[in-house]
Amino acid sequence: MMANKGIWIFPVVVLVSVFLAACGDSTAAPTFDSSDSELVTGQEIYSNNCSRCHLNDGAGGSGVQLNEGKVLASYPDAADQRAFIVEGNGRMPGFGGSLSDAEIDAVVRYTREVLAE
Ligand code: HEC
Repeated sequence: MMANKGIWIFPVVVLVSVFLAACGDSTAAPTFDSSDSELVTGQEIYSNNCSRCHLNDGAGGSGVQLNEGKVLASYPDAADQRAFIVEGNGRMPGFGGSLSDAEIDAVVRYTREVLAE
């Protein structure tokens, strides 16, 4: 008598799920007229010194929101905003010791004329 040998194939189905991370378009740096070299410098200063707290687009993060007109509402006078960035306050470090006057001017312009929009 022959043993009835069945061959059982157990298909293994591997489901591969690809998750496409939504890579924060909302934190993209805004675009602007790059022929204005002071604003270009301002953006460099901002991305090197400020965006880790305020995010690339100024939406806030661990710092406070600067975009959507917030920084202009808090500081109608650019000189007051400049003084704040030099001095800092609370968890916001002062940059008077690490950035030059020209760099601070550039980043103030960038936050008011590009980010604030
Ligand atoms: C370590 C995190 C951190 C970094 C880095 C940082 N900030 Fe801030 N920033 C804050 C916090 C927190 C506040 C709120 C502080 C307060 O008002 O007491 C703030 C407030 C501000 C404000 C005032 C906003 C308002 O409406 O009152 C401005 C303007 C500002 N930051 C600009 C900058 C610029 C420009 C840089 C880079 C040169 C920078 N910040 C870097 C955390 C940061």
